[in-house]
Amino acid sequence: MVFILLNCKTYDEATGTNAVSIAKACRDVSESSGLEIAVAPQFPDLFRVASAVKVPVFAQHVDGSGAGSYTGSIYVKGIKEAGAVGSLINHSEKRLTLAEIEKSLSVLQENKMRSVICTNNVATTAAAAALFPDYVAIEPPELIGSGIAVSTANPKIISDSVDAVKKINKKTVVLCGAGISKGEDLKAALELGAGGVLLASGIIKSKDPKAALEGLVSLI
Ligand code: G3P
Repeated sequence: MVFILLNCKTYDEATGTNAVSIAKACRDVSESSGLEIAVAPQFPDLFRVASAVKVPVFAQHVDGSGAGSYTGSIYVKGIKEAGAVGSLINHSEKRLTLAEIEKSLSVLQENKMRSVICTNNVATTAAAAALFPDYVAIEPPELIGSGIAVSTANPKIISDSVDAVKKINKKTVVLCGAGISKGEDLKAALELGAGGVLLASGIIKSKDPKAALEGLVSLI
């Protein structure tokens, strides 16, 4: 099944009650298209979104630290009880060490939650796949927020990532992100072997996020 994950980041347009509106757009377009569309709100909005809207909710990050004296950490039990079904790990805007990536992944797996490890090139994508996450999301940082879709600007990074992951494990699904906003971008990503996309500004900062999402899925 095609998987689309919309990252709210800390955009004002997706903060607080705006995050609920964005989530409702994801739910509505998921229902009309039959595609899985999930949303990753900020931590303070996880419970608000998960309790108000029937949509898969992901955290933007989770720490590997468990219960105890870890001030400021994001505890996996906290995001799970807030209603998250999974989390991003190692987003380019929240980079972790390899040891931290592995620990964050293991706490998600221990809690039967879905994991998306973000990577920046084919080598890191292959390395991430060796940890057996549910997804790896390849995102060239220089294209993030650019409006220039990775699936057209750098298609080889997607196809090479898909090939690299397949050689390591057949379970992990490759997503791609950076600059994705239109139907052609998603169609091209799927044709290159990706199982879906991770995106943000093309939808969140559009005048009508629901219409933008409908446009994104219109060619599938
Ligand atoms: O998490 C997805 C994000 O990094 C991509 O950003 O704004 O280019 O869709 P954007």
